[in-house]
Amino acid sequence: MSTETTRGHAYDGIDEFDNRLPNWWLWSFYLACIFSVFYWIHYHTLGTGDLPGEAFVLEQQQAQQRAEEEAARNPVTDESLTKLAQDPAVVAEGEKIFKDPARCALCHKPDGSGNIGPNLTDDMWIYGGKPMDVYTTVLKGRPGGMLPYEAFGRTFVQRSVAYVLSIKGRNLPGKAPEPNAKKEQ
Ligand code: HEC
Repeated sequence: MSTETTRGHAYDGIDEFDNRLPNWWLWSFYLACIFSVFYWIHYHTLGTGDLPGEAFVLEQQQAQQRAEEEAARNPVTDESLTKLAQDPAVVAEGEKIFKDPARCALCHKPDGSGNIGPNLTDDMWIYGGKPMDVYTTVLKGRPGGMLPYEAFGRTFVQRSVAYVLSIKGRNLPGKAPEPNAKKEQ
């Protein structure tokens, strides 16, 4: 396939030949051009396809919805919450929620030792430290400034509760117990 004529361009003593491109190469190039036209029309002109970013968001939403439906099917009990608190994957998700500077950590400190809100690692509880007590607190909120998180969805609430239960009893030095808190095991 090589030709004897060069393009008359030399660099560092290297001549440039003017060889014909192999057919398989040319065809893959032409097909890519044709494909790009359909791709462009499908994704950008008609918008009938989801671009990777949109597809990802959609998949995340569907996964979230499935998790919500799953959570709605299973009634929440002390046992179910205790089980979640023993599942490292759920606790890790809860930790992310808790330590988000705009969420629980804002009022309870990232380690849960208390700031505006009470220390969650001690054995003193205003509304009870049993799994269902903590669940009700986070779901519905409490009058002294604890926000309700029901609108964030069941999985959000259950994960953050699982995390609270996992740090419960660490007894970190922090905010002193509220006057209306009672000792609990
Ligand atoms: C805006 C501040 C604020 C945020 C954000 C907040 N809390 Fe609270 N939390 C409080 C306050 C204040 C109390 C005490 C309420 C009372 O005394 O009525 C409280 C109480 C609690 C209690 C009950 C403690 C007890 O002794 O009974 C739990 C459990 C709790 N919060 C968990 C959470 C979790 C989990 C999050 C995040 C999903 C969160 N809080 C976000 C302020 C906050």
